[in-house]
Amino acid sequence: MTERGDGVEGMPDPVTKQLTTLRVNGETHTVAAEPHHTLLEVLREELGLTGTKHGCELGECGACTVLVDGVPLLSCLTLPAQVRGMEVTTVEGLADGPRLHPLQTAFAEEGAAQCGYCTPGMLMAAKALLDANPQPTLEDMQQAIAGNLCRCTGYTAIYEAIAKAASGGGAGAQPLRRTGAGRASASHT
Ligand code: FES
Ligand code: FES
Repeated sequence: MTERGDGVEGMPDPVTKQLTTLRVNGETHTVAAEPHHTLLEVLREELGLTGTKHGCELGECGACTVLVDGVPLLSCLTLPAQVRGMEVTTVEGLADGPRLHPLQTAFAEEGAAQCGYCTPGMLMAAKALLDANPQPTLEDMQQAIAGNLCRCTGYTAIYEAIAKAASGGGAGAQPLRRTGAGRASASHT
């Protein structure tokens, strides 16, 4: 199905938008969107889920990372039709009602968010990591967020926050575990 946009100078617009059905954060949504609009644009502009950030739009910064069936995906490079029938999770879907996800709590406690622009993407990449590997090493973390750029933190606080969430947080939080020659202050290039 399609719908028409606003007319221009008395002339009707050509039919451009298409109805798209998406599963996002456990709910089904049907939205009218331009067929060339990316998943990022539809999430933000049609569904109002502005937690997913609009960065480079080139697949280079990771700010737009969401999970699709649990796998991190760059929403700026994805069309909604590509995720039809799949479960999309955005940062808005991390908390359980009023209860923050342990990663969100750990990021706040460890100062892993400064300007915060990278944080939603970092959280989603980190969630995918912990879901697959509940006790990651530093190298596992470096690899998991290698596609997520942060201009502010230097990454160390982010790794510490992921480690804290992995350990259950609180006073029993485990220090970063290293294997090989990994460095907490890795250049992240
Ligand atoms: S906005 Fe998608 S990778 Fe930068
Ligand atoms: S906290 Fe500012 S870009 Fe990461």
